[in-house]
Amino acid sequence: MKFFIDTANLDQITEAQNLGILDGVTTNPSLMAKEGITGDSNIINHYKKICEIVDGDVSAEVISTEFDGMVEEGNHLSKISNQIVVKIPMTKNGVKALKYFSNNNIKTNCTLIFSPGQALLAAKAGANYVSPFIGRLDDISSDGLSLISEIRQIFDNYNFKTEILSASIRHNMHIIDCAKIGSDVVTAPLSSIVGLLNHPLTDSGLKKFLDDHKKAN
Ligand code: G3P
Repeated sequence: MKFFIDTANLDQITEAQNLGILDGVTTNPSLMAKEGITGDSNIINHYKKICEIVDGDVSAEVISTEFDGMVEEGNHLSKISNQIVVKIPMTKNGVKALKYFSNNNIKTNCTLIFSPGQALLAAKAGANYVSPFIGRLDDISSDGLSLISEIRQIFDNYNFKTEILSASIRHNMHIIDCAKIGSDVVTAPLSSIVGLLNHPLTDSGLKKFLDDHKKAN
């Protein structure tokens, strides 16, 4: 399973990259705004910086909701680096744009997926990734992980090459459950990724090893 980090924060991206487990980055307009990145040229420069840090796919989301605007923005974003994956929202115009970019060999990530039907349409249109939002479904007392299972089944039935990029991760166990289901990718905040390191028996076991070594020496 690939690990992506879900942030536009350069320090966090660098920390995950230095851990040696990072396969890519996802951003969205909210994450860019959180870092205070505004204005076209600053946004483009920020994507360039992210691409320099990480050796993998970097999702950059379009703002336009019209087909022509999505195509124009996506073409512009894709010229930043061959690492850029154009992130397109799941709408009727979005599906048309996914098909356009697929025909033009530009990688896409279809975002805001909340149902198996949406994932199926995005895959049919040639999306490289679909991003089901687990946490936001859980937030409304629905079952985010069931959605991942349903999409997995559909994609396997028909050998779709579209990768399931599980997003809106809220905690470590979301990552483990996605891995058990067979999600191709998980994009998570740094806290959830490094949270996988922790186990109290590792801490107490290491302490005992070091204490015993100290006593004996
Ligand atoms: O990148 C999109 C997705 O991961 C959003 O997560 O936490 O805003 O629901 P969240």
